[in-house]
Amino acid sequence: MDAEERREESVALVVIVVLAVLALASLLVALGYYCYIRSKVSQRRKAFKNEAREEGDHEEAAVAGGGEVEVVVAAGKGGGGVQLFAYKQLHAATGGFGKGNVVGHGSFGSVYRGALPDGRKVAVKLMDSGGKQGEEEFKMEVELLTRLRSAYLLGLIGYCSEGGHRLLVYEYMASGSLQEHLYPTGGGSYGGVSKLDWETRMKIALEAAKGLEYLHEEVNPPVIHRDFKSSNILLDKNFRAKVSDFGLAKFGSEKAGGHVSTRVLGTQGYVAPEYALTGHLTTKSDVYSYGVVLLELLTGRIPVDMNRPPGEGVLVSWALPRLTDREKVAQIMDPAMEGQYSLKEAVQVAAIAAMCVQPEADYRPLMADVVQSLVPLVKHKSTAKIGGGSSLHAPKSPATPVYKNSRDITNDGAPELHNSHDHGSVRTGIKSEL
Ligand SMILES: Nc1ncnc2c1ncn2[C@@H]1O[C@H](COP(=O)(O)OP(=O)(O)OP(=O)(O)O)[C@@H](O)[C@H]1O
Ligand SMILES: [Mg+2]
Repeated sequence: MDAEERREESVALVVIVVLAVLALASLLVALGYYCYIRSKVSQRRKAFKNEAREEGDHEEAAVAGGGEVEVVVAAGKGGGGVQLFAYKQLHAATGGFGKGNVVGHGSFGSVYRGALPDGRKVAVKLMDSGGKQGEEEFKMEVELLTRLRSAYLLGLIGYCSEGGHRLLVYEYMASGSLQEHLYPTGGGSYGGVSKLDWETRMKIALEAAKGLEYLHEEVNPPVIHRDFKSSNILLDKNFRAKVSDFGLAKFGSEKAGGHVSTRVLGTQGYVAPEYALTGHLTTKSDVYSYGVVLLELLTGRIPVDMNRPPGEGVLVSWALPRLTDREKVAQIMDPAMEGQYSLKEAVQVAAIAAMCVQPEADYRPLMADVVQSLVPLVKHKSTAKIGGGSSLHAPKSPATPVYKNSRDITNDGAPELHNSHDHGSVRTGIKSEL
């Protein structure tokens, strides 16, 4: 081998070595790049999982204890789309919480009529004197209404929990509460004549019963409303009824026997005797309260009215012995509905009310039974008929509502403003610890 050949051989060797080194280097670079990409991907996956978990927690509407309520449900993302509002948004929506926009007052605070920027009409409930009870009610209302959805329960559109402000934003119920319609000028023995006709009352009774049936039988664990009453049955412009106010609600115990509370809450006149006396709370306590509302619908009397003659002040005690006697049923019926129902129908509804308000909780019916019994009594119609009190032979009310109340539709189609101070004396019950 001459020198020329040896030189070529060593050049080839060098080239081979250089190429091998280059190949190894690029392999190492490729491997490094691959590892880098892998770690990036796993980081992103981890972050995504955490986000999803947090979102899930929010959708569960976990309510943190302490000062600020941390129920965060993004608009349109689960939780039925319950929105989180800023205080200033609701301030703007209600015209600065103007007196003219007040539609009612309750133990939680005032309720204002408002409009969202997208045009939706809303009712904004502003908690006034918070306290522990107010805070608990706020949390329970948001938690429950975020999870529950039924055509027979008032819809929660959103809420605000900013600093010390606590506000709830609901769908607007243009016709107000059943209580206002049963006792148009303040209720009690001197109250005005209700213009709610029999058919509308039965339809409201059925829809409210369906609301409770949903809570008791379609939700697991069952929900006990604990404050079912005529002011918590709200009516839309077509007098469709929805059950509202879940601040006092409790999850029913799976165990037989229910809860035993040391604190009895509710509204005077509506609270079941076993719950008032022993704190024993079950879904049958709501059935009792429902029976009281049915009695209000039948008789047009408020649950407790101490201005009535002796023996007539407490609606249940006065009505119960009369509910199973045909002749007496005719005597206790609201005179405003005369001529609008058959005695047979009245006796049937009276029998349902009697079962609901009986002192022995176990013998009260399930709300599903109540619904079944009421269905045949409700005639199907597209809109509610609201007419004046009629005589026995008076024609039925016209199909178009003729009823004028303080929430009547104004020229621009918006419900007129209304101040429930007018009805202040109607409130039979001061929600209280009994
Ligand atoms: N979503 C709503 N749409 C229209 N009006 C409403 C709405 N919610 C409440 N209101 C009106 O505000 C009034 C007060 O309601 P609120 O629930 O605060 O108190 P209440 O039910 O009368 O009494 P309590 O606080 O003792 O339960 C109701 O009677 C009703 O007239
Ligand atoms: Mg209410």
